[in-house]
Amino acid sequence: MLLSRSCATILLVALPLIAQADQTTEARALASQMIQQLGAALKKELAANGPDGAVSVCRDIAPAIAGELSRKSGGRVARVSFKTRNPLLGDPDVWEQQVLAEFDRRAAAGEKVESLEYSETVDEPRGRYFRYMKALPVQPLCLSCHGTAENIPDQVKAKLAIDYPHDHATGYAPGQVRGAVTIKQPVGTVQ
Ligand code: HEC
Repeated sequence: MLLSRSCATILLVALPLIAQADQTTEARALASQMIQQLGAALKKELAANGPDGAVSVCRDIAPAIAGELSRKSGGRVARVSFKTRNPLLGDPDVWEQQVLAEFDRRAAAGEKVESLEYSETVDEPRGRYFRYMKALPVQPLCLSCHGTAENIPDQVKAKLAIDYPHDHATGYAPGQVRGAVTIKQPVGTVQ
């Protein structure tokens, strides 16, 4: 009796943790799909048409890939940042801001940006959600569109000025946290 009660207690404590571990594995796979698909499209376009041609890949293809993965996963897959280019899609909510701040702190303390990730199950007024974020490091490849004024070619500056008049996503250096892939999925029933 005592044994079965303690077994039940262990199960009660362990099951949500096992569920969260499964969801983290799934979220990790989704985030790497997002990163790989976008990276491949970006590299192809940069090679074919240069950085000013590739601006449209980021403008049109990034939201399309995020939308497709969101529909497939039944949750929300997006990219967020403290310094957004597109505030409509890229603005972080409170939880995401806290995780981004923690990623910046961990990067400053010497952790590799590409290995930074965080997951948590949170309760909100509408229900319970599994949440996951993976940091996106600034690589040399990103600089022609997110670097300092010297890194960004004039044609790219001109395109960005037209499409994103409120752009904050410049001035980055390699190794910094550019932002993160964020995933939010309902757990159980959501009204
Ligand atoms: C060819 C130009 C270009 C390159 C190169 C580029 N980006 Fe971007 N990036 C953009 C554009 C344009 C947007 C806005 C997309 C939108 O409208 O949703 C963007 C948006 C983002 C966002 C979403 C948050 C925001 O600012 O709105 C992140 C995160 C991001 N880029 C990371 C990166 C990383 C990391 C790299 C390098 C691996 C990179 N980008 C390379 C043009 C570029």
